Amino acid sequence: MLCGPCRLLRASVAPTAALAAALLSSLARCSLQEPKDQVASALSPYFGTKTRYEDVNPGLLSDPEAPQRDPELLEGSCTPVQLVALIRHGTRYPTAKQIRKLRQLHGMLQARGPGDDRPGNASDRGLGAALADWPLWYADWMDGQLVEKGRQDMRQLALRLASLFPALFSRENYSRLRLITSSKHRCVDSGAAFLRGLWEHYHPGLSPPDVSDMECGPPSINDKLMRFFDHCKKFLTEVERNATALYHVEAFKTGPEMQSILKKVAAVLQVP
Ligand SMILES: *[C@@H]1O[C@H](CO)[C@@H](O)[C@H](O)[C@H]1NC(C)=O
Ligand SMILES: *[C@@H]1O[C@H](CO)[C@@H](O)[C@H](O)[C@H]1NC(C)=O
Ligand SMILES: *[C@@H]1O[C@H](CO)[C@@H](O)[C@H](O)[C@H]1NC(C)=O
Repeated sequence: MLCGPCRLLRASVAPTAALAAALLSSLARCSLQEPKDQVASALSPYFGTKTRYEDVNPGLLSDPEAPQRDPELLEGSCTPVQLVALIRHGTRYPTAKQIRKLRQLHGMLQARGPGDDRPGNASDRGLGAALADWPLWYADWMDGQLVEKGRQDMRQLALRLASLFPALFSRENYSRLRLITSSKHRCVDSGAAFLRGLWEHYHPGLSPPDVSDMECGPPSINDKLMRFFDHCKKFLTEVERNATALYHVEAFKTGPEMQSILKKVAAVLQVP
């Protein structure tokens, strides 16, 4: 994505450099325990659109602030004049709906007494018991909010971008930066964390002011753009509320393959 504009604008035309760092809110990224969690690390490469930055780019594990540049993408002759980035919010808590479902599952696991253990191997029995003993610490107020790691994700992303595109992100150009976000708190907070990261980059050692007092101003909220799927009439009538269009989704969720996976998981956890 970063390479696109640069290839097209090889000779520097240098109009305004506006960065629309837009925070897409529809997709969700769940946080597990905040401290580094081996289980989370083992699973998260399989989260698809919810994959963590460090799983896509393992180099970040050793130094999350070091920029890594593909030499093919940015040749020496290329002067980027504009960068448009679509950025997903940082790591967040589960939503209230997800927390409700987790509680339901947790309740089921706790309800099965040791006597309920069906024949199975010891590690399978251990898994159900371990999950039942796990303290479910999510509270309703957490409802999809950004966690500290999410703030860190955004801060480090800002630092990497600033090092990759030093001219675009020079202090002189800071006031040209434009952030657009959806109204979701996790997205607004992600935008603020991104700006704070940049501010710290320009003013090392100082603590950042409120984002509304920064030269570039706070992220502007635009749900029509960032949550188009809630506002676009064509999408709503032709796709979202159209059973025919979503036929394959339904077929996938209720199909025999999915049923067999559900049965297997239920058997491993020994829940109905
Ligand atoms: C027990 O089940 C787990 C998961 O289903 C499997 O990975 C493991 O190899 C099994 N162990 C034995 C001793 O059968
Ligand atoms: C950004 O600021 C630098 C000065 O630090 C300047 O050389 C450059 O032309 C500005 N604009 C762009 C598009 O990089
Ligand atoms: C619903 O989806 C089907 C299949 O994509 C499409 O042919 C049809 O025109 C859609 N209906 C509406 C009302 O848009």
